[in-house]
Amino acid sequence: MGTDLAGKSVLVTGASIGIGRETALRFAAAGCRVALTYFEHRAEAEEVVQRCLGLGAPDAFAVSLQLADEDSICTLLERVIDRYGALDILINNAGVISWKPLLEQDFGELDTQVNVNLLGVMKLTWCFLPLLTDAVITVGSTATLHQSRTPPPYCATKWGLRGFVKALAVEHPDKLIASVHPTVTATRMNDMQGMSPERVADVIYRIAAGEIEVEPGGDVDLRDYPNE
Ligand SMILES: NC(=O)c1ccc[n+]([C@@H]2O[C@H](COP(=O)([O-])OP(=O)(O)OC[C@H]3O[C@@H](n4cnc5c(N)ncnc54)[C@H](OP(=O)(O)O)[C@@H]3O)[C@@H](O)[C@H]2O)c1
Repeated sequence: MGTDLAGKSVLVTGASIGIGRETALRFAAAGCRVALTYFEHRAEAEEVVQRCLGLGAPDAFAVSLQLADEDSICTLLERVIDRYGALDILINNAGVISWKPLLEQDFGELDTQVNVNLLGVMKLTWCFLPLLTDAVITVGSTATLHQSRTPPPYCATKWGLRGFVKALAVEHPDKLIASVHPTVTATRMNDMQGMSPERVADVIYRIAAGEIEVEPGGDVDLRDYPNE
């Protein structure tokens, strides 16, 4: 039996498209207030806001976020504090990948993946933790659960993130802190091939609602929740 999340405030990063968009819509449909971020797709994010409101979210708004930029993270924090005062649930979803072997990537691509996927997520979590009441759910990858053909720099960022989540859960045992690991999912990142992003979003929601149990800092593997 899960918890009713209606009225909770939720921040979903990278919610203009893909897994983040479906996650924002899933929480909206449950009556949550939804803050969502975009990087390049502002119009798509504003459309997600309208869809959230149409699904019954009492509030929804979109904020620009560049995870590689500290000022951008601080601005997001200010916007969320102004609107909600505190935050109940943080979904660290935004991420990037360079789909090339290591030696075909330049140093700038390595920097971007580390700065967005790992450092950016750590900084954003650092900013929001003091005002966070319930949960931090971070989107990793099954590439951290088994050896895969996923390029090494992206793998390294997601392995780092998984370690961050495990250690964070020890420091904050009062909160639900966990990783969720999508397998190949049909989004822009993966050429629209694979599992449905709605399925991933539903699993993220069920973790937050306590319908899927996970140990502190633990891992939820989407391969255990195939498309129905
Ligand atoms: N798709 C898969 O097969 C798969 C598998 C395992 C894990 N994942 C993980 O799932 C998460 C969501 O991926 P997805 O497949 O939904 O990818 P996606 O469709 O490419 O969406 C990525 C989201 O991240 C945002 N973003 C990109 N660069 C950013 C930056 N520098 N700062 C802040 N936000 C930024 C994008 O914003 P704009 O669109 O507005 O630019 C977009 O909303 C990622 O963490 C990814 O690593 C995906």
